[in-house]
Amino acid sequence: MTKKLLRTLAGETLDTPPIWMMRQAGRYLPEYRATRAEAGDFLSLCYNPELAAEVTLQPIRRFGFDAAILFADILLIPQALGADLWFVTGEGPRLSTITTEADFSPLKPADEVHDHLAPVYETLRILTRELPAETTLIGFAGAPWTVATYMIAGRGTPDQGPAHALKTENPALFDRLIQRITEATITYLSAQIDAGAEVVKLFDSWAGSLSGEDFDRYALQPTKTIIAALKTRHPDTPVIAFPREAKDRYLGFAKATGANCLAIDNSVDANWAATHLQKDGPIQGNLAPKHMITGGAALIEETRAIVRAFQSGPHIFNLGHGITPDADPDNVQLMIETVRENAS
Ligand code: CP3
Repeated sequence: MTKKLLRTLAGETLDTPPIWMMRQAGRYLPEYRATRAEAGDFLSLCYNPELAAEVTLQPIRRFGFDAAILFADILLIPQALGADLWFVTGEGPRLSTITTEADFSPLKPADEVHDHLAPVYETLRILTRELPAETTLIGFAGAPWTVATYMIAGRGTPDQGPAHALKTENPALFDRLIQRITEATITYLSAQIDAGAEVVKLFDSWAGSLSGEDFDRYALQPTKTIIAALKTRHPDTPVIAFPREAKDRYLGFAKATGANCLAIDNSVDANWAATHLQKDGPIQGNLAPKHMITGGAALIEETRAIVRAFQSGPHIFNLGHGITPDADPDNVQLMIETVRENAS
């Protein structure tokens, strides 16, 4: 096995950690903005395999990252299940809402998502052919709780209020929605692996708003169910779990869910994570995305501190959340050079 990211996920400690970046194909890159304009809009780009593969490759060509992440979105699953989805420029996603049985019942069964998602699988097949031999291809999906928060509210929400409300007021319906998303995610990720994804990542962006038993039931358990199902079909494909802002609930999460790697956000102290989380396996993270805007000595110092904190175990260098549109590509270059400064 020569790919650095796969070696790290297998538990190897490398001299220089492999590196990639959440949202590495995105609006901070002029070449992304040009291809997106050619596609028309964001969703048309997601469903155009040639162009989606092109934007996936752009940050690999420019920066030589160790991994490429499929260009798509976590909200393609709700759309494949039958929800309406559109993006409002400058605001974000909008979906038809699910708050009643009448909203839920027209949703498709989980095994009927594939026709809709066929272009995503085609993107992966193109990437399998076109990526450099040393670059790992990562597929992904949203974790059920996070996807449900968008399906219930019909948009991003600061506190996931509508999802918490449905969970309290109609737990039976809420559970069925989580169940449907869980099943769809299993079949979706399995198909991504069949199409060439070498690693898959589950994004639970709003895991931090669940606490106590709710965290176990709606963040931990669905992740565990998805990973167990994937492992029966694809035992050798590593899974990265990202229960963002889980705070002390990051403790033991990889073990409890069967994840091969725990991705952490930038609110977590790297030295604490190295002591308490890395003993269970590879860690991915966790530079604050703001450094991609501000750059300079602080970026270098913080990058070195994170590399140092995790250097005695398996570590994938990444940001703690996605890079933002106002980031400067020169700062990305500086981060990569700093991570690799002692590489032979
Ligand atoms: O990391 C990658 O580059 C892979 C592709 C990817 C995108 N979104 C592309 C995207 C991935 C893995 C995601 C995940 C995603 N999408 C999450 C989980 C991770 C996180 O950020 O917390 C969530 C919550 C979404 C839903 C979503 N998609 C929102 C809320 C938005 C709007 C916010 C924004 O940045 O405008 C999107 C749009 C989106 N997804 C963009 C990209 C590159 C920007 C779209 C554009 O070009 O206008």
